[in-house]
Amino acid sequence: MKVTAVYPGTFDPVTNGHLDIIGRGVRLFDEIIVAILKNADKEALLPLGERMEILKTAVAGLPNVRVESFDGLLVDYVRTCGAQAIVRGLRALSDFEYEFQMALMNRRLGPDIETVFMMPSEAYSYVSSRLVKEVVRLGGDAAGLVPPEVVTRLRARYAAPGKRR
Ligand code: PNS
Repeated sequence: MKVTAVYPGTFDPVTNGHLDIIGRGVRLFDEIIVAILKNADKEALLPLGERMEILKTAVAGLPNVRVESFDGLLVDYVRTCGAQAIVRGLRALSDFEYEFQMALMNRRLGPDIETVFMMPSEAYSYVSSRLVKEVVRLGGDAAGLVPPEVVTRLRARYAAPGKRR
């Protein structure tokens, strides 16, 4: 049986920690669908189209990974894809409570869908999209933490008038 996992997230922006999780996931699953949430409560800095482009480029070398977007309930999307699992990365204890709540809510909504947590390399255990944005916004060096294209795109966003998040 082909086992497909959905790796959902905001990916605003994707980090090397996310890519590390995808690289680990492809060793476990036949297919990974990276699913970017379309209408998050919090407004994203990078538009959905840019986030999709960046991710597609970043996973271009992985034949069993595709990048899509979704809205509505994650479990509904997982079912639509014919997937069996949700992959989420766990960096530290601080991630645990939020992830635990989401995993159990998703289990209640979709008892047939399993959430699988994976730990990224310790080299990325402190890397978050939020901190990367802050570092770039304040002129710091985020090289090595995100794909180079992310730094370019974030700098362009922050250079545009009115973008200070
Ligand atoms: O990268 P993020 O922001 O931590 O990802 C959060 C995400 C997209 C996984 C989460 O917000 C989500 O699944 N949203 C879809 C709505 C949903 O299904 N909510 C109920 C289950 S918790």
